[in-house]
Amino acid sequence: MAVNNGPRVMVIGSINIDLVAGVDRLPREGETVWALGFEQHLGGKGANQAAVAGLMGAQAVMVGCVGDDVFGPRALQGLQQVGVDCSLVRTVAGTSTGAALITVGRRGENTIVVIPGANGAVTPADVERAAGAMAACDAVMVQFEVPEAVVLAVAQTIARLREAAARPLLVLNPSPFRASALPPAGTVDLLIVNELEAEEMTGHKVANPADAAEAARKLLPWLRPGGRVVVTLGEQGAVALSDGDMPAPLYIPARKVQAVDTTGAGDTFAGALVVQLCAGRSMAEALRFATTAAAITVTRPGAQSSFPRREEVEAALAGAPEPVPLLRKG
Ligand code: RIB
Repeated sequence: MAVNNGPRVMVIGSINIDLVAGVDRLPREGETVWALGFEQHLGGKGANQAAVAGLMGAQAVMVGCVGDDVFGPRALQGLQQVGVDCSLVRTVAGTSTGAALITVGRRGENTIVVIPGANGAVTPADVERAAGAMAACDAVMVQFEVPEAVVLAVAQTIARLREAAARPLLVLNPSPFRASALPPAGTVDLLIVNELEAEEMTGHKVANPADAAEAARKLLPWLRPGGRVVVTLGEQGAVALSDGDMPAPLYIPARKVQAVDTTGAGDTFAGALVVQLCAGRSMAEALRFATTAAAITVTRPGAQSSFPRREEVEAALAGAPEPVPLLRKG
């Protein structure tokens, strides 16, 4: 068997089964609409990011919980098939696996309702159990589909490991956003937020790259020295800023593609970006790669079913836009 020397990435987060209704258009409040079709896919922000890390060549480790229903083994099998180590995933008796009710419109737009199930049973003890493996990781990714105490435990464990000279970076993707789950300011190495999360965290509208750059500046206090923030803007691309080595924010336009289903695009971007950065690529290179990976994802249905392998992204890089510095006007 080939030895994997890729970056070590741990993801502590949710594992879901996605129940997806394709619709002509998303229903309004109080409205009932006919579905064009129904599909089940493997999802969950945590599992999605772990799957992407595995597909991009990382040594990926998943920490989380599944229920003792038919979906738990299916979700784990899917992760293992893309090389994710699931030995730190716990099966919770008497609980259902997390689920997401998703509607996808004709332009690939979606709405998502998440039912936590076993994801709500992840505890700080699971984080502690993973601390030994975490010490050997390059990055630990966490999102907000697990209890708040878990996010805090991840930040505290990483701070402790860093004092003992271990290297894992804390990557925070605060999605779905709730302010009460945020770890203390100054603890995050890489903060990845979409425009809505950036708005929630800064109190300012984020409608374009200039707004995103302004939001990124406002988000710097969440970072550890040398940390980075990335604000994603869907079909407008993404903006990155560092409080250290980057004099101006970097802007990368998104690739123009025919979107079928945007579910999991943010997870693809986050997972691919982290693996690239941990492999020693510059932020500009990592942004270009992650944007290309996300563009491929939106052209296919489902979350994990739509994720590309590293070789496919590399083959598509030729036509990818280059990031450019975003200078302030005036
Ligand atoms: O980010 C997309 C994911 O959000 C879906 O797979 C769904 O499970 C929800 O967690």
